[in-house]
Amino acid sequence: MRITDTSDQWWKSAIIYCLDVETFLDADGDGIGDLQGLAQRIDYLAELGITCLWLMPIYPSPDRDDGYDVTDFYGVDRRLGDYGRLVEVVRTAHDRGIRVVVDLLINHTSDQHPWFVSARRGPDSPFRDYYVWRDTEPPDTAKQVVFPDAEESIWTRDEQSGHWYLHHFYAHQPDLNVANPAVVDELLRTIGFWLELGIDGFRVDAVPFFVEDIETTGHPTGDPHEVLRTMRAFLGRRKGDAVLLGEVNLPHEQQREYFGGEAGDELQMMFDFITMQRTYLALARADAGPLVEALTARPALPPGCQWATFLRNHDELTLDKLTEEERQEVFAAFGPEPEMQVYGRGLKRRLPPMLDGDPRRVRLAYSLMFSLPGTPTLFYGEEIGMGEDLAAHGRMAVRTPMQWSDGANGGFSTAPAEQLVQAVVADGYGPRFVNAAAQLHDPDSLLSFVKALISVRRSCPELGWGTLEVVPTEHPAVLVHRCDLDDSSVLAVHNLSADPVTVPVRLGGTEDEHRIIDLLSHEVVSPEGEELEMALAGYGHRWLRLCRGALLSLP
Ligand code: GLC
Repeated sequence: MRITDTSDQWWKSAIIYCLDVETFLDADGDGIGDLQGLAQRIDYLAELGITCLWLMPIYPSPDRDDGYDVTDFYGVDRRLGDYGRLVEVVRTAHDRGIRVVVDLLINHTSDQHPWFVSARRGPDSPFRDYYVWRDTEPPDTAKQVVFPDAEESIWTRDEQSGHWYLHHFYAHQPDLNVANPAVVDELLRTIGFWLELGIDGFRVDAVPFFVEDIETTGHPTGDPHEVLRTMRAFLGRRKGDAVLLGEVNLPHEQQREYFGGEAGDELQMMFDFITMQRTYLALARADAGPLVEALTARPALPPGCQWATFLRNHDELTLDKLTEEERQEVFAAFGPEPEMQVYGRGLKRRLPPMLDGDPRRVRLAYSLMFSLPGTPTLFYGEEIGMGEDLAAHGRMAVRTPMQWSDGANGGFSTAPAEQLVQAVVADGYGPRFVNAAAQLHDPDSLLSFVKALISVRRSCPELGWGTLEVVPTEHPAVLVHRCDLDDSSVLAVHNLSADPVTVPVRLGGTEDEHRIIDLLSHEVVSPEGEELEMALAGYGHRWLRLCRGALLSLP
């Protein structure tokens, strides 16, 4: 790695923070968070140490899927602000060294999008082929629907034209026909448009669904991945260091295809859903095994590509890639009540309530996520340990207003509580108990812990750029992993169980070759021989840097 690469391929060592403008901070007092509010909190995010902001959809939308149903790819929803406010956010973020990526919806639009309004008039509409139609009764597709609580089929008969249109998600989200070159052109223009406004990349929504649609409908080039390559090449031409971060919840081997195989010419980043799900299984079992399996099964990444690691996102905490038995184990440990589960495959909960609010376990989980190779991605409120609102419908349970203070509405808005876009969490995780203001100057708070972790993580290019080795140990509850880069390594040890342990850790060199520093306590460690006896409290964790040169020479 050359130091210049770290800025050219900034996503390999970034810290991402995802938020929904609508629930972050309401500056104009109408009960809905807005871009003006977000601009006021960029300094909070900068101080936290994040380097990339991911904004959930900001486009005009009837808001029937929280903005993932778009009526204009080129607009800003008026409830959130306008281009002026957006550009202020982007400029302020850039000034503080934070890049901004936005959701890119390419799989579908809202049924109120002018394209679909026109398309459903019938085969003569110029936009008819922007969507996927069939004129005969579709087969039973109940197993393919994404939201089984709301839909029974991925085809819905359009009363107006009498034909069926495809929609993998809600019926009000018709799938775009990405096999149509006119649609691809439109998407490229959309990408170009937002790049021109200063946006640094895109979180690409629901990627496998549109690739599958291209397979079904037949793309002129015959290769469904061609669209991703086209998007990536266009992106690179318009802005060399822009990034595509894809939502591809597939087994690792298939994910490799979405990086573009060895060529690495499709998505530069993808969320690692497999490692996320196996982390929860490992935590539920107090056994590092499932996590080791995931990490060792990760395919090698093509140059310039990176995983995004996460413990929580804005959707259900999906456990769909576990076996039925494994899923039931995680449900039993972290969400036993039916009201905590959703779609039969996921949890509606946030991390601290799942871990009974035990600060040791919460910190262990974040230490783990931040120490794994990949780019850590936080969902707003995780840094202060927010909880969920189980009374909210489905995935909305974790999309409650950010809790800034213990004041009215948690400092999110001055509007009357009943006017808020989402109710503030009411129970023991509400603003009285969990808020940013109270934690900001408390050195023992979760916020201070996460801040310190981010700062250490940012000083460890080994984790973003290095090669991973899972170091064998005799303790099933302990994960030891090491990332090597040039003459330096970071070695992290995590104890997933409540019992204290002492683990001998093989250093892989001779004694006098090593200078070792404990990155979290800042102490210098002296090994005796080739092994280090590491004592860990229950749910304890340690990060060590092993240098073969001087301690101060960071790679
Ligand atoms: C993605 C989003 C989810 C949304 C869906 C349809 O899975 O993460 O929130 O509902 O796509 O756009």
